[in-house]
Amino acid sequence: MIKAGIIGGSGYTGGELIRLLLHHPQVEINFIYSTTRAGTRVSTTHTDLLGVTTLEFTDKADPDTDVVFLCLGHGNSRKFLQEHPFFEKTRIIDLSSDFRLKKDSAFQGRNFVYGLPELYREEIKNAGNIANPGCFATAIQLALLPLAAAQLLGDEVHVNATTGSTGAGVSLSPTTHFSWRENNMSHYKAFTHQHLNEINESLAYKQSRKGKLWFVPNRGDFTRGIWATAYTHFKGSLEEAYALYGDYYAQAPFAQVSPEPISLKPVINTNQCHLHLHLHEGMLLISSAIDNLLKGASGQAVQNMNLMFGLDEEAGLRLKSIVH
Ligand SMILES: NC(=O)c1ccc[n+]([C@@H]2O[C@H](COP(=O)([O-])OP(=O)(O)OC[C@H]3O[C@@H](n4cnc5c(N)ncnc54)[C@H](OP(=O)(O)O)[C@@H]3O)[C@@H](O)[C@H]2O)c1
Repeated sequence: MIKAGIIGGSGYTGGELIRLLLHHPQVEINFIYSTTRAGTRVSTTHTDLLGVTTLEFTDKADPDTDVVFLCLGHGNSRKFLQEHPFFEKTRIIDLSSDFRLKKDSAFQGRNFVYGLPELYREEIKNAGNIANPGCFATAIQLALLPLAAAQLLGDEVHVNATTGSTGAGVSLSPTTHFSWRENNMSHYKAFTHQHLNEINESLAYKQSRKGKLWFVPNRGDFTRGIWATAYTHFKGSLEEAYALYGDYYAQAPFAQVSPEPISLKPVINTNQCHLHLHLHEGMLLISSAIDNLLKGASGQAVQNMNLMFGLDEEAGLRLKSIVH
């Protein structure tokens, strides 16, 4: 069994990791670290785990652990690793943005590989450490990578994406407050969202182009999920576009290209990304739907762990969606 540690256990992505790892056939949870809940039962914070586990949060991180998931806010992963050195053999999977960009990928003798399996599957299999992608970044890259890989990504690409309130983490803020969020919607960080850097880096890895990606993120009136639409000029037919996407994702268990229109709910509580294509007067519209806490965070982290440890990529991730 792989011994796993989780840091930031009381947060949203930490909670999802606990749920996934408790049911993973090849993983045993070694410790769940929390700065605020040490000594209390995990099920008193994550109440759905009542009767599922009697594990308690701890403020001791066992350095002799096979894999450690860092579920901390930006900047805190670096700080935590500085203060808590793990054995060299311990694989780190970081969910923050601390190590995602190439310029940040080396730290304390560790090298972090960008953990998007649909882009770097072979590199991930040999990686010592993983920088797990952002949630918007995952949905958008999966929408655009097949075009970039075929050198067909247009110069101007427009993306509009809406996230549920869990995307902002467990702490309450004015825009995650029920009174603000219910029956409401707004955009934020238009054209400047921080995930643009990692998206552009990945697209540039596949295709060198002059153009720009224009990204408008929105806050949606729901708790989970990301619904992203991207559009760009495409010279071929819709059949050609589908062939391109079908080929690119032929070996990807968590990217499904649908000929039928897609919607958000069927991916919620799964590690799947659903994609759909529509062509109108030379403009290709790509729709992409993920669960921000699973394919956008903890599910993808487990997928990366599976690849790193030579396990079945889908182990612990065969999940049932919530449709109705
Ligand atoms: N939410 C998403 O959809 C999503 C998707 C992709 C990536 N991410 C990224 O994943 C990371 C975690 O996100 P989240 O949504 O799980 O955040 P969160 O709900 O706010 O949880 C973060 C947890 O970190 C711990 N913490 C806070 N300050 C700390 C400090 N100074 N030192 C050590 N631990 C500290 C707290 O847990 P304890 O009280 O238990 O210590 C807190 O609950 C973030 O970097 C986020 O950007 C989130």
